[in-house]
Amino acid sequence: MAYLEIAGGRPLYGEITVQGSKNAALPILAACILGEGPCEIENCPQIQDVEDTLSILRMLGCRAERSGHTVFVDAARLERYSIYGAEAIRIRSSILFLGALLGRIGKAVLPYPGGCAIGSRPIDLHLKALETLGAQFSAQQDTCFSDSRAETNEREAPFTGQCRICARAPELHGGSIFFAMPSVGATENAILAAVCADGTTVIENAAMEPEIAELCDFLKLRGATISWEEERTIRVTGTKRLSPVRYRLHADRIVAGNYLLAAATCGGCVRMRNLPFGLLDAPLAILRAMGMTIEEDGTVRAGLPLTAVEEVTTAPYPGFPTDLQSPMMAALCVARGNSRIRETVFENRFLTARQLQKMGARIETEKNLARIEGLWGNGQLCGTSVTAPDLRGGAALVQAASAAAGRTRIYGYEYIARGYEDICRDYRNMGAEIYLRE
Ligand code: UD1
Repeated sequence: MAYLEIAGGRPLYGEITVQGSKNAALPILAACILGEGPCEIENCPQIQDVEDTLSILRMLGCRAERSGHTVFVDAARLERYSIYGAEAIRIRSSILFLGALLGRIGKAVLPYPGGCAIGSRPIDLHLKALETLGAQFSAQQDTCFSDSRAETNEREAPFTGQCRICARAPELHGGSIFFAMPSVGATENAILAAVCADGTTVIENAAMEPEIAELCDFLKLRGATISWEEERTIRVTGTKRLSPVRYRLHADRIVAGNYLLAAATCGGCVRMRNLPFGLLDAPLAILRAMGMTIEEDGTVRAGLPLTAVEEVTTAPYPGFPTDLQSPMMAALCVARGNSRIRETVFENRFLTARQLQKMGARIETEKNLARIEGLWGNGQLCGTSVTAPDLRGGAALVQAASAAAGRTRIYGYEYIARGYEDICRDYRNMGAEIYLRE
């Protein structure tokens, strides 16, 4: 079982380059199947979630290849519409192939998606939005004799007995979609289907995360007609042809925010190339209030002690991102004074608190509120064995371990590899002592 070993307790000094955005890469790779021409995606992070997505593309009959950080996808030969196997269950974003496949060939069969265990993660908003555009769904138990198996590419696939989503949309048409809550994935699915539908779709109370703007930019470069009407309203007019394109992904704002918080937790001075300033307004405002200096060239200085924050509340963009909630918790553990974190996006996202407590953190959680007593002047984090509960929680533990006295072992490395190209490389570039043990 692979684990990370970290000898912590020193400040971070060095220079790192922020990798390309995971949450933009995943919907854009799904969007490559809309239209036939080859697409080239540059600055595509070398992470497990992207590799799983490339496997899904190949399963559908696409050519999907990587050369360093550039990925080529040619969907000219896409003729299959059934997705199965460990990749699809592992990643939450496999659900994005629902909208994309309906848009491309009007049919899709796929398992209920997986992803991090950070809450119940239903898909009702995805299904309702696609129904508005003309899709029909049935749930089906995967059996070796099912119709879809006989009809699709699954004859060779192992049968799982799991429940799968079967979708059909002989004619996709425009429609009015209103989301009860601004779901990132459901907004992306609606856009992917609407781009190929007949007529115009208006999506209200849409999520407006920067990764959705990137998906729209990518599709617009391919010839789609998409506009943002008001703050949370997106208008998509369907088009019959999308052209080949080369697109460069932006830097990953969550990875950047995590490394900013690592510098905050350990102290020191780090220069970050590609720091996506414009996408980090809410976290940067809090980090500055905690005492960090962040310069325009990406140099961040963290003098200790960090100042506690009365309350950090996670919220859809442009609010404080839920994906930085665990890294923020790790930083507040070593601050001077008491802080609170209120999680409003996912109901089960305090699992990292238990692991931080094992390292000596003083955290109490009650429903969606965490109270953190900062250890500055009153104790310290100490190395021990912990387990990553999810992707961002795992990254938060690496951050805490780098600040802790002594050695820490972090199990569950596979979660971290889903979203970080090489967390050891990045931390070593900041001067940390960190090893991946197999
Ligand atoms: C995406 C991000 C993830 C991030 C999250 C919130 C990707 C690949 N993942 O996940 O990193 O943490 O946005 O910023 O981009 N919900 C429903 N019904 C639905 C869909 C969602 O009730 O059909 C709820 C969820 O349970 C959750 C909230 O809506 O409470 C937000 O989830 P959503 O924005 O959909 O997250 P993801 O797209 O899964």
